[in-house]
Amino acid sequence: MVRRKLVVGNWKMNGLRAHLPQVAAIGAEAASHPQVEVGLCVPATLISMAAEARGGAFIGGQDCHAKTSGAHTGCLSAQMLKEAGATWAIVGHSERRADHGETDADVASKALAAHAAGLKVILCVGESLEIRDSGEAVPFVLAQLEASLPEGAAAEWLSIAYEPVWCIGTGRIPTMDQIAEMHSAIRAALIKRLGKDGNAMRILYGGSVNAANAAEVFTVADVDGGLVGGASLKVESFGPIIAAAA
Ligand code: 13P
Repeated sequence: MVRRKLVVGNWKMNGLRAHLPQVAAIGAEAASHPQVEVGLCVPATLISMAAEARGGAFIGGQDCHAKTSGAHTGCLSAQMLKEAGATWAIVGHSERRADHGETDADVASKALAAHAAGLKVILCVGESLEIRDSGEAVPFVLAQLEASLPEGAAAEWLSIAYEPVWCIGTGRIPTMDQIAEMHSAIRAALIKRLGKDGNAMRILYGGSVNAANAAEVFTVADVDGGLVGGASLKVESFGPIIAAAA
């Protein structure tokens, strides 16, 4: 099964109008590596401007509400992201789960809402350091995946990102064997749940991916790309990661 590599930047709460030239430069890098699918999930305030500057990259949001509209001050619906120019959305990022108390059921609802609005979805899972140290990382992540993956999920519109919480923004990454073990366990769970389509679904690795480690991470079996935080903010650091996936 050949799965097209997917490399996505998550800008988190970073980026103002002044950073649009980075979107354009990353978009140009994406256009020069058409074998890789490249995206940038920018703050919602930048989506419409980034969509103008995106070149060969897609633009995504970082979260959406499960409902289409209503009395939810400060929230954004998937339709709103779509109308602004997003074509993808991240759901279930560990920072949303931790800072906003999002449950697996919330994440599944958000994924369905994004799909209903016509967005593609990156659904995040990952264990804390405490769980990693307890030796329970694989069963924990598989339980999170089982409960967060919505009914009707399909490879055509949904990808998984495995992001160990202890590797996000820390400069630490798991060993290649730990990444391989988790990705192969996720692959087996996806095939069990979705049949053949589980083999087509992309599984990204995220957490301290950088220009120095990307090539090695991307050669691990069942790693179909990366979800990149800090290193995605500038073309100097993100460009080599895109190139490493090509
Ligand atoms: P870093 O690449 O900064 O560790 O962030 C990873 C992440 O959380 C991407 O969603």
